[in-house]
Amino acid sequence: MTDELRQAARDHLIRYGQGETDRLYVSAMGAMVRDDEGRDILDFTSGQMCATLGHSHPAIVEAIRSGAENAIHLFSGMIPEPVARLAKKLAEWLPEPLSRSMFVNTGSESNEAALRMAKMVTGGYEVIALGGSWHGVTGQAAAASFASERRGYGPKVPGVSVIPEPFAYRCPIGHCRDQCDLSCLKVGLKMFDMGAEGAPAAIIAEPILSAGGVIVPPEGYFNMLKEEASKRGMLLIFDEAQTAFGRIGHKFAATGLGVTPHIMNVSKTLGGGLPLAATITSDAIEEEAHRRGYSYYTSHISDPLPALAGLAVLETVEKENLIERATQMGGYLRRQLDALQQKYEAIGDIRGQGLLFGIDLVKDRESRDPDLELAANTTRRCLELGLSMNIKNRPERGAVWRIAPPLTITEDELDRGVEILDKALREGLDARAKMKRAGA
Ligand SMILES: Cc1ncc(COP(=O)(O)O)c(C=O)c1O
Repeated sequence: MTDELRQAARDHLIRYGQGETDRLYVSAMGAMVRDDEGRDILDFTSGQMCATLGHSHPAIVEAIRSGAENAIHLFSGMIPEPVARLAKKLAEWLPEPLSRSMFVNTGSESNEAALRMAKMVTGGYEVIALGGSWHGVTGQAAAASFASERRGYGPKVPGVSVIPEPFAYRCPIGHCRDQCDLSCLKVGLKMFDMGAEGAPAAIIAEPILSAGGVIVPPEGYFNMLKEEASKRGMLLIFDEAQTAFGRIGHKFAATGLGVTPHIMNVSKTLGGGLPLAATITSDAIEEEAHRRGYSYYTSHISDPLPALAGLAVLETVEKENLIERATQMGGYLRRQLDALQQKYEAIGDIRGQGLLFGIDLVKDRESRDPDLELAANTTRRCLELGLSMNIKNRPERGAVWRIAPPLTITEDELDRGVEILDKALREGLDARAKMKRAGA
């Protein structure tokens, strides 16, 4: 059956960029995923960055069970009780003045809804996004994404300008080295102003540019971004798909930064593995959007079952102190990653916060040229050795392992993961040295 199903996957699935189908996967529990040969694989990506509680956490399983027994889906105009409860609970978590949510399915969708709202409220359409950003694959979200492949899909939604990302390790304007002085932002805004058409709407940004290589903007960046947005009559949108609900050691990146955006989007980490996202704003902006006739009506908006999963996520993060745990386990992992960096010249930079890390692999520490081959080979080898990891391999932004295990991961599991990273790196570098000696 195993071979037959693998063949079925090869024959009948559209290849969307998913990589190998040499094996299929059958179950996932905690920080482990099991493949069709019964091999347990440590999950250093929390699924697609969504399973912060670990896979199939009992609270999520119970939410799904009770949701299925009560109401899975309703007419989109009916507000289910769990949706009202989740909106209230979220409002208790949110920094003021954010207090109103709309529940959709995916991160892309939350960005569509937010940009649509910003355009409606401001009456403009010009949007600024950062280089290296990823906001999704749907219309407006894709137009504002610069870490994803943009070629081959026809014209994007007009009105989007890109400004250089604050990447101190590989400064996109060739200005800084290791310490970003915000020149990228000043230059980017100057360029925007030069081409602006007088219809400002929004600046959209990830608080940590994750798909772009886990880029952590410097202190003061978001204060300035908000100030500059306000000066131009633009709304600041934070895309907290990966940073909300504990991942980086805060309720939200916004609370850690002390900068509250006009609109905040949460997605991946809200549903505990189920598709659930929210676009969140203040009373004042919601009022103005409503007054102007804002609508966002989809088949699965305000669905009751995923809302129960969202409630279970918030309650579990509180009950299991997962925000503190992200900082604590992140510190534990960071010490081990630092030790690996001492050992291997190939680890040029380690970036991140809480339990979200980017490990930048370089050919040498002076040139910082990304070692794309080493990153690809070691990621493949890690999987063979029982560790699933994500790789962000772009010549312009680095060869970066992205590590984001569930917040519930144990020290033993982290130790095991680091052992595998160590072994994969050692083997990869040894193999290369051998080939070099052989004159290949
Ligand atoms: C920051 C960010 N925003 C939006 C998205 C898109 O979310 P989704 O894939 O759920 O549409 C992603 C997905 O990786 C993301 O990382």
